[in-house]
Amino acid sequence: MPFLILWACTLIGCFSVSSAEAPNLSDLVLPLWKESPEQFSDYRVEDGKYIINPWVFPERMGLYKILLSQTASYFEKFGPENEQNLLWGLPLQHGWQYNTGRLADPSQRTDCGYESGDRLCISVDSWWADMNYFLSALPFLAAIDSDIMEISSDQVILLPPPKDQTKFCLNVSACQSSFPKTMRKWNAFYQHLQSPSSSFEDLLKYLWDAHTSSLEDAYKIFENRLEFYSEPEATFGMSWYVAVRYIAAFRFPTTFIRTLKFQQSLPPRMLVNGDRAPYISDFTELQNAVLVGLNLLRNLDNDTGSLSLTIWKILMKIQSVRNNILKLLETILENSNST
Ligand SMILES: *[C@@H]1O[C@H](CO)[C@@H](O)[C@H](O)[C@H]1NC(C)=O
Ligand SMILES: *[C@@H]1O[C@H](CO)[C@@H](O)[C@H](O)[C@H]1NC(C)=O
Ligand SMILES: *[C@@H]1O[C@H](CO)[C@@H](O)[C@H](O)[C@H]1NC(C)=O
Repeated sequence: MPFLILWACTLIGCFSVSSAEAPNLSDLVLPLWKESPEQFSDYRVEDGKYIINPWVFPERMGLYKILLSQTASYFEKFGPENEQNLLWGLPLQHGWQYNTGRLADPSQRTDCGYESGDRLCISVDSWWADMNYFLSALPFLAAIDSDIMEISSDQVILLPPPKDQTKFCLNVSACQSSFPKTMRKWNAFYQHLQSPSSSFEDLLKYLWDAHTSSLEDAYKIFENRLEFYSEPEATFGMSWYVAVRYIAAFRFPTTFIRTLKFQQSLPPRMLVNGDRAPYISDFTELQNAVLVGLNLLRNLDNDTGSLSLTIWKILMKIQSVRNNILKLLETILENSNST
């Protein structure tokens, strides 16, 4: 995909690309993707078990890297080079969290996640990191349970975070007993993935169902973590959470290039006191506009007691409506890139 790489490079500004050695787009745009484990044997092994610490960035990314490669064959029928794999949305989002400093300790009691300290550390006090645990560890464990990973669940050990261990499940059976609905939904997604008769639209539906369920579980547990953040960042976190429910109902197709493009419109750093969209000077016009839009959406959702979501869900049942909205959003994005 040389054109796509060229395009991605205009976005992220990479200069070292020679056309002779066509690089992997994922290596270019996902932080530390190249360095992350791509097979179980790249993790530490003890007594024949793989020890994975999801509180270290490359190790958590490795969960995605393995998941993406193990599911690649199921997406072949939709396009080449795994570009159509719908699971790309997860590592791309996690990469954005890392690049924008959102995985660092927001209480600043430790140097976890900071450039000046332990940059690779994922802080258990980070709201973003905890929400993401439910979108990395849980889908990963459910994939093992659904026989996607060619490994049995007792061969993998996920290490607990340094504190609040009881809030996180570490293995298939513990996750199933603590978060039964969410684990069932991830399993349903993988079952449909393995079924040759599933359409792209079917898979999108099951994926977003599971995604939303993971976030609902996590939001209840970690809402209080938002207190560590500046007011604009906490508001953005809540708005993003609400927005994802609308995006889920819309069934945004989280393929690689599309997600990468849309992600350019999210805040490129943490918000600090004094940041007021649409007047944040180091954000693009689009990033400012999206932030305004997200906050409006949250207010609308709150003021209508989520009636707006109910109506949105009914509209989104119609595939042609979804297609047209996607086209519209893509047009807006293209136009804002070219100005
Ligand atoms: C990307 O890299 C992996 C190994 O890192 C390799 O197996 C794969 O073929 C590469 N894909 C492309 C499109 O170059
Ligand atoms: C799963 O995790 C729970 C709690 O961390 C632990 O009590 C249990 O023994 C583990 N089960 C397996 C099969 O490892
Ligand atoms: C949501 O609405 C309630 C009243 O319905 C209001 O008290 C509350 O402040 C609103 N919350 C936000 C975040 O707007």
